[in-house]
Amino acid sequence: MPRFTTVALAAGAALLVRHAVRSRMSTAPLWPMPALDVPVSGFGRGSTVPRRVLVTGRSTPAEGVVELRLEGAGLPAWQPGAHVDLVLPSGLVRQYSLCGDPADPSSYTVATRLIEDGRGGSREVHEQLHEGTEVEIRGPRNRFPLVGAPAYVFVAGGIGITPVLPMVRAAESSGADWRLVYCGRSRATMPYLDEVERLGGDRVTVVAEDESGFPELDFLAHVPAETAVYCCGPDGLMDAVGAAMPEGRAPRLERFSAAAPTGGTAFEVELRRSGRTVTVAADRTVLEAVREEVPGLMYSCRQGFCGTCRQQVLEGEVDHRDELLTDAERDGSMLICVSRCTGKRLVLDL
Ligand code: FES
Repeated sequence: MPRFTTVALAAGAALLVRHAVRSRMSTAPLWPMPALDVPVSGFGRGSTVPRRVLVTGRSTPAEGVVELRLEGAGLPAWQPGAHVDLVLPSGLVRQYSLCGDPADPSSYTVATRLIEDGRGGSREVHEQLHEGTEVEIRGPRNRFPLVGAPAYVFVAGGIGITPVLPMVRAAESSGADWRLVYCGRSRATMPYLDEVERLGGDRVTVVAEDESGFPELDFLAHVPAETAVYCCGPDGLMDAVGAAMPEGRAPRLERFSAAAPTGGTAFEVELRRSGRTVTVAADRTVLEAVREEVPGLMYSCRQGFCGTCRQQVLEGEVDHRDELLTDAERDGSMLICVSRCTGKRLVLDL
């Protein structure tokens, strides 16, 4: 029997016993809200105030991974699962999970893996952000909050360990029962491996592809209802975790590279200043359709968090699907990479 399965069965039995005497899962965050007089990153939109921070530390926690320490004044407090938007020198905006210590109000820590054939963000971080570089950040925001639960199962793949690491630390310090399945191509490419193994001992199952292939996830079918299951990693891993869960239950997932949301019905967008009208098909975004008429239109994240594609709306009802704009900002503008129209027609000031 593979080591993973053995550990999984033992852990599953232990969880069942403990669940019999512990309280049920709460939707409240596990990590206590800090008593600080600074803005706190809660759920969803969080802080959108841009601020300058200085790179004061740079290290390599694994092959192909760079960790940055960012220091600044008045950094908002945050909770495990939170991320910041990093505005790179080129203007590209990328999201990175905070993986340092939430109790440290003077700095944030992020880590990124170099994606050789990516869209350029990770390469820019690796090649241009060094100690002494000043960068802009926005946030933190938290779409992946750690709920209060008597027990946790965390599944992380590669750089997906970054939002999970503060969760593991929080679960450990709260006395919750937890286990972690940590997957990667090889041990050398897996950041923070030493720390999680030190923290969790045999509660951590390491699945290095070059040693033991792919993770065995069948144990998830028997995870008690009170156990919160979190996963961050490649889409294939997150899909496998979702498929392994008991019917009717879903893991809590953090996706960094989700496709821009589409769906709904087709509608028309009039570009008032250009005097043109484009059709947005159900499987396309407004940004895609408009860029055919206005090729130089600026955008960056294409997922509704950076604000680069924001446009003024002159007429029509917007179906806002972003997590960035405040209600006041939504009154008269929209992020065209994700948001759509509730009716048949929008008019933009383009
Ligand atoms: S491109 Fe980032 S919000 Fe639209």
